[in-house]
Amino acid sequence: MHANPNDQTLSVQGINKRYGTFQALNDVGIDVKRGEFLTLLGPSGSGKTTLLMSVAGFIQPDSGRIMLGAQDITFAAPEKRNFGMVFQGYALFPHLKVRENVAFPLKMRGIRGAAATKSVAEALELVGLADKGERYPRELSGGQQQRVALARAIVFQPHLLLLDEPLSALDTQLRGQLQTELKRLHRAVGLTFIYVTHDQGEALSMSDRIAVMKDGRIVQLGAPSALYNRPANRFVAEFLGVENFLPERLTGRQGLLAVRASALSLAGKAGRISARVSDLDYHGAEIRYTAQTECGLSLRFNLSLRDAAHVPQENENVTLDWQEKDALPFPAA
Ligand SMILES: Nc1ncnc2c1ncn2[C@@H]1O[C@H](COP(=O)(O)OP(=O)(O)OP(=O)(O)O)[C@@H](O)[C@H]1O
Ligand SMILES: [Mg+2]
Repeated sequence: MHANPNDQTLSVQGINKRYGTFQALNDVGIDVKRGEFLTLLGPSGSGKTTLLMSVAGFIQPDSGRIMLGAQDITFAAPEKRNFGMVFQGYALFPHLKVRENVAFPLKMRGIRGAAATKSVAEALELVGLADKGERYPRELSGGQQQRVALARAIVFQPHLLLLDEPLSALDTQLRGQLQTELKRLHRAVGLTFIYVTHDQGEALSMSDRIAVMKDGRIVQLGAPSALYNRPANRFVAEFLGVENFLPERLTGRQGLLAVRASALSLAGKAGRISARVSDLDYHGAEIRYTAQTECGLSLRFNLSLRDAAHVPQENENVTLDWQEKDALPFPAA
């Protein structure tokens, strides 16, 4: 009897994990639908790996439970869960050829011979390494090794793929390339992905939904556009790259107003904020400024060289303004 694969929502229900007196996971609950690309985003120490390891079965929560469809898997052994895992450091077997590395999970499951050969070839094809099966890991680049790790994680057709910062060791260009490939792979195999990163750009561009974590809790869960446009609090806004939080005395309204550097612009005399340029950096066609207000607030704004009539220099006084549609109000707390 086979469970209906469509019923296999992963449901994490109120899990807690303590190390001594330290609470690494605090009442974490989340449902991940089959085929979804969910990202756990948060600063170092926020509990991302602990949550992923609990789902994988390497960590047992103190309370709460984890369901896969109707099945309680909270204490099921990792190998019984049929989840693929990709860790940060590749963790390939150095003495095994690429195809042997990829075949390893099949071997563990008693799958050998022609069926195994076919599955390995398909997995290597999916990650673009069809011609590298006879090499050893040391004969591959970092990005290629990461792809072998991916092939090894998907070769046995897992229910779920768990990825813990799989691209963090790679340079920016390779990272971008593999981000695109991961998305393509996700579409091609229709597998559920739970992806850990602390890179907000990566999270925004890849995910169906993002769970932002802080101090062992999920502080906001939503689609990338919802998080970007309606961060629930200052922490989420800052983590998603909002640079400026304007206090009441500058805005004349209650609470804080969050304004991105890209939405704060040079104004004529009518600008609502006066500041003095303290720093400027050229980034291609854009200049990124830091300016100080009289009351000691540091502000960031950008200027596009293409439509700049005047390029303010260090120590120059400027006035700045923003449009209401680009500002997000927050309670001051
Ligand atoms: N075995 C352990 N014993 C004690 N404390 C632990 C243990 N494992 C994790 N922690 C603590 O739990 C917290 C969460 O750790 P976790 O590895 O989940 O963070 P993370 O969000 O993955 O961080 P990073 O981005 O640095 O990988 C950290 O403060 C960590 O020090
Ligand atoms: Mg981690």
